[in-house]
Amino acid sequence: MGLGPRVSLPIRFPRKLAFLSCFAHYHWIDRPRSITWAVTGRCNANCIFCEVPAQLTSQEDVTQERALKLVEEMNTIGVEEVVLVGGEPLARKDIWQILEQCSKFGIRVLLVTNGLAIEKLDPRRLEVLRRCVSEVRISLDSTDAEQHDSIRGVSRAFDRAVAGLATLRRLGGPEVSISTVVMNGNQDQIPKLVELADKSGARAVYFQPVSPITIFSGASALTKKMELLVNTQADFERLERNVDAGLRAAKRLRIFTTLPIFQVFAGPYFQAWAANLPGLYFETIVRKFVCLTTLWSTFVDYDGSVKPCAVLASTGNIKQSSLVTEWAKLSQFRTNAKAGRLPNECQACFCNIGESIVFSTLRSPLRNWRMFETLAASRLR
Ligand SMILES: C[S@@+](CC[C@H](N)C(=O)[O-])C[C@H]1O[C@@H](n2cnc3c(N)ncnc32)[C@H](O)[C@@H]1O
Ligand code: SF4
Ligand code: SF4
Repeated sequence: MGLGPRVSLPIRFPRKLAFLSCFAHYHWIDRPRSITWAVTGRCNANCIFCEVPAQLTSQEDVTQERALKLVEEMNTIGVEEVVLVGGEPLARKDIWQILEQCSKFGIRVLLVTNGLAIEKLDPRRLEVLRRCVSEVRISLDSTDAEQHDSIRGVSRAFDRAVAGLATLRRLGGPEVSISTVVMNGNQDQIPKLVELADKSGARAVYFQPVSPITIFSGASALTKKMELLVNTQADFERLERNVDAGLRAAKRLRIFTTLPIFQVFAGPYFQAWAANLPGLYFETIVRKFVCLTTLWSTFVDYDGSVKPCAVLASTGNIKQSSLVTEWAKLSQFRTNAKAGRLPNECQACFCNIGESIVFSTLRSPLRNWRMFETLAASRLR
């Protein structure tokens, strides 16, 4: 239950006050602060953990007209940030018009990309990136070119992504960060990726553990790539050693990472999968887990379908209705999420788990005093 009336005022919290914003969204503000939008289903890579459907054409994507209108609707309901994903967002031909539209309405853009296309962009396109995008997050899963190429299923994927980082550095903006999927086999890369971030001018590395469930299959048809999980005692120890080394490197080089959260939660996450009991993870970590992700954001897929988050089933489609209508439809889902009632699929989730766990813990510090202690210790390291 909220403490006061539900409002959808376009109040914008400065990023430094994001923490207050969590509580405001929990109690009073009924609008998405951020939209994660898969602007296309197509991709120029073929990653082992992703399974982007190879047969998609641009016909399935929402039209340019609808895409531009969607940005307008985002502005009307006070969306502060759009996270562009896919597929590969730069594989969408009119991505440039979409970026311009976001910029026109002052919506912050975080572009998540495999980085393959950046080195070949002409100066006009680069200028659009510089003006309209706040942050480009390039996916890099290894500093070993051969390993990264084999994970991404593309030759020269590493060289091209690193060339993309260098191009953005020369451009002098947007901010650059790295996104890394941690799986069995690339644990040793954690500290090396922090060093690479430092050398290439990236301000942060967002480590996330591999999910054996690809978002493209939909939650009802789970493709379980269990072989990608960290699952033996020796592998856990190797992961732990490398997370510690990564934390030391990050501190020394002043690179922001998700490693403090990763250090606390990745072990239980992988162990729960190894025991084939992903629920264990949720049930043992916080006494009442609230999914903050669905309280302040929503997911729009390449074909226009709207989902509480990337991995859950669709509840509607913006090809047939408006963002406001689709947000309203998810109201019951949010009521349930606030009460800690989440679907079974959530038991395997690691999406934005850090912010959701921090929020859940701080909401009920007495109930979660053990977790409160753990979080405080991880922040102090
Ligand atoms: C779906 S991709 C879309 C953007 C772009 N194509 C890219 O790879 O950066 C968004 C992010 O999800 C990550 N990702 C994809 N499949 C994943 C999985 N099964 N488990 C964890 N992360 C995954 C990617 O590495 C990437 O950082
Ligand atoms: S993770 Fe990104 S780059 Fe890899 S196949 Fe999926 S959409 Fe493409
Ligand atoms: S817990 Fe994870 S899977 Fe469930 S709704 Fe939240 S983000 Fe989605």
